[in-house]
Amino acid sequence: MPTILKIQGGVSLKGTIEISGAKNSALPLMVACLLTDKPLTLTNVPNLADIRTITQVLEVLGVTAEVNGSTRTLNAASITSTTAPYDLVKTMRASVLVLGPLVARYGLAKVSLPGGCALGARAVDVHLEGLRAMGAICELEEGYIVAKAPNGLHGASFTMRVVSVGATENLMLAASIAKGQTILRNAAREPEIIDLANCLNAMGANVQGAGTDTITIEGVPSLHGATHKVMPDRLETGSYAIASLITGGDVTLTNTSLEYLPMVRETLEKAGAVFEEQADGFRVYQSGPVHGVDVMTEPYPGFATDLQAPFMALMGICEGASMITETIFENRFMHVPELARMGMNIQVHGASAMVRGVKNLSGAPVMATDIRGGVGLVVAALAAKGETTISRLYHLDRGYENLEAKLQACGATVERLKVDA
Ligand code: UD1
Repeated sequence: MPTILKIQGGVSLKGTIEISGAKNSALPLMVACLLTDKPLTLTNVPNLADIRTITQVLEVLGVTAEVNGSTRTLNAASITSTTAPYDLVKTMRASVLVLGPLVARYGLAKVSLPGGCALGARAVDVHLEGLRAMGAICELEEGYIVAKAPNGLHGASFTMRVVSVGATENLMLAASIAKGQTILRNAAREPEIIDLANCLNAMGANVQGAGTDTITIEGVPSLHGATHKVMPDRLETGSYAIASLITGGDVTLTNTSLEYLPMVRETLEKAGAVFEEQADGFRVYQSGPVHGVDVMTEPYPGFATDLQAPFMALMGICEGASMITETIFENRFMHVPELARMGMNIQVHGASAMVRGVKNLSGAPVMATDIRGGVGLVVAALAAKGETTISRLYHLDRGYENLEAKLQACGATVERLKVDA
C-alpha cells in the first residue's frame, strides 16, 4: 500500500538531528568489497532503499552481506555471477559502479545499461572510455554493457571529458588492482571520493590525490579486508540546515561537519544564516529575514546540485529574488511545478530558474519527483500554512533515513500515512 507524508506547516524547528552516514559514499564503499576475497566491514551505513538495492545487486553476484544495525560486513570470497541484471540496475543507476571492480578482478562484467532517469539522459560514456583506456573491451549487447579484459586491466593516463563522480569512483575501484599506474585527470573532488580512497587504502590500495582533480593509483596485485566508517551525509546535512532556516528555527546537527559544505555554507550565510560550529556538528539559525541570493550548481567544491531543490524552496519564501542555474543535470527542475502548487513564483528559462520570494505559502497535495526534489517539497511544506500531503515517497526513502522521526524530534507536525493506491 503506498504511503504519503502529511505535514502541517508553520512550526519553527527546534532541537537536534543526528545525521546518518552518506548514501553516496556508502554505495561505492559497499561495491569495493568486490575487489577482495576478504570481508569488508562498513560502519555508519544508513538504512535506505538505495542501500538495500546495492546489497541485492551484490548478493546476485554472490556476495554475502551481514547486517547488524548500521554495520554491514560484505564478503566477496566466492563470486557466482558477473552480471548485474536490468531489474535492479534500472531502479538505481549507481549499480553501474560494479562494472569496474568486476572487470578488474574477474576479467568480465555484464551490467545492464541504466537507461534514462528523471534527471535526464545521464550517460555512462566516461565510465566506459576510462575502462577502455585501461584495456577493457566494452560493447553493448541486448541492453547490457559487456566489458571483457581476459588478461586483466592495466594502468592508464585518462582525462575525463566531464567531471563525473560515478566515473571517478568506478575507475578508482578498477585501477586499485590493475597492473601499473593509473592517472585520472579532471577527476571529481567530492568528499565521497576521499572517503572511497581512504577505504581502498585501508584495504591495501595505493590511491593518492583524492580530493584534487588528479588522482594517481598504483595498482597492487590484491586487496585485503578492512573496517571503515562511512562519512556523514553532507546532502542530508544541507537539507536539514535549510529546513531549520525556512522555518525560522534553531537546529543543531550532529555526527556531521560544515567542512563538507563550503559553498552551501557561504551561500546560506549570504542569505542570512548563522552557523555555530560544535565538536560533533553545528547549530544553524537565521540572523534576520532570509533574503534572495543567486546560485549556480557546480561540481564540488561548488554548490551541490543535490541541494538545489531545497535551496529553491528557501528562496521561494524569502525577501527578494534569486536566480538559480543548474549546470550539472539538464532536467533538474521537475520540482518547480510542485512548488508552484504551494504558491511559489518561479519562472524557468532553460537552465535557470528565476525565483521571486513570496510572503506566504499554502499547503497543497504534491508529488515527489526525485530524491532531492522530494526533500525540496518537505522543506517548503514545513514553512507553508496548512496541510501538505506528499506522495511518491519512494523517492525520499531512497535517500533520507528516518525523515519523519528526525523532523518530529524538532517539533514538526509530520506523519506517514498509508493510502489506497
Ligand atoms: C552522483 C551522485 C548524485 C549527484 C551527482 C552530481 C551518487 C550515487 N550520486 O551521481 O547524487 O547529483 O553525482 O554531483 O553519488 N555524465 C556523462 N557521462 C558519464 C557520466 C556522467 O555525460 O559517463 C554527465 C551526467 O549526465 C551529468 C554529469 O556528467 O550531467 C555529472 O554526473 P555524475 O557526476 O556522473 O553523477 P553520478 O555519479 O551519476
